[in-house]
Amino acid sequence: MSVVVYAPASTANVSVGFDSLGAALSPIDGRLLGDRVMVEAAEGDDVVIENVGDFAHKLPADPKQNILYDCYHYFAKQYAEQVGKPLACVKMTLEKNLPIGSGLGSSACSVVAALEGLNAFVDTPFDKEQMLIMMGELEGQISGSVHYDNVAPCYLGGMQLMLQQEGATSQAIPHFEDWYWIVAYPGINISTAQARSILPAQYRRQDTLEFGRNLAGFVHASYSKQPELAATLLKDNIIAEPYRAALIPGFDEVRSFAAQSGALASGISGSGPTIFIVTPVLEQAQRTKSWLEQHFIQNEDGFCHVCKIDEQGTRVTGTSL
Ligand code: HSE
Repeated sequence: MSVVVYAPASTANVSVGFDSLGAALSPIDGRLLGDRVMVEAAEGDDVVIENVGDFAHKLPADPKQNILYDCYHYFAKQYAEQVGKPLACVKMTLEKNLPIGSGLGSSACSVVAALEGLNAFVDTPFDKEQMLIMMGELEGQISGSVHYDNVAPCYLGGMQLMLQQEGATSQAIPHFEDWYWIVAYPGINISTAQARSILPAQYRRQDTLEFGRNLAGFVHASYSKQPELAATLLKDNIIAEPYRAALIPGFDEVRSFAAQSGALASGISGSGPTIFIVTPVLEQAQRTKSWLEQHFIQNEDGFCHVCKIDEQGTRVTGTSL
């Protein structure tokens, strides 16, 4: 018996909602942009872990340092408490397709696919809310602070707003279905912990008020179907972008290109270095992709995809990789 789970890439913050908004991404050419995990029965007294995929060589050689090792043991503890019996031994294969430290929710992808794979393997004893809390906790151990803006969209799909209330950790809000999200990863890595450490510990009152106004306005514009208003508010001139822009070579040129080309918005995906540009025009999206490939991507690890928001989130895709 085995199960394979796919978890999509996600863009956290979406500029206007630092730690509070996130969207799952799906390339329009049908390629998978995310990690897969296969869980299968195994003999032995500890989980067996194998890594495959384009970025497997960047993972630690010691299986005990692998995110999946922590996922298995964390899930096993919760399972024993919930179900009253020990979790069977399994083999977990991680197909690592997303670069680490990319700003596309790479660690969230692995955590979500692993935990959902384990849950599916043992006939889903945990509901979605319980799973999301577990995913946030594990992701928090890795990134140094609990924030759900990658795990929630990755797991649940769509554009997610973090509420962090009991029973309502995150909920979907409407999004503009005709918007294309062009994401470009330049090929260098930025750790989330590092990108958080350069942010101010405190912000001025007028800035927090503007932040609240922008985020509330964006959510309102999304519900009231006002794409131009939403696009105007889709910015971060306050919390993170002014500080993180300097970590991303060529970011200012990307912003200038996006503005000149008439894009609706542009910004940093999560804690970077991936950037995103939004347009409702497919031809413009393809031109933007070509420009980013020529001017922003720095090495062969980099890539660019024209995406739409992934509605499905994490899903079981079969029984073998
Ligand atoms: N909201 C988090 C941050 C996401 O920007 O630090 C990190 O992927």
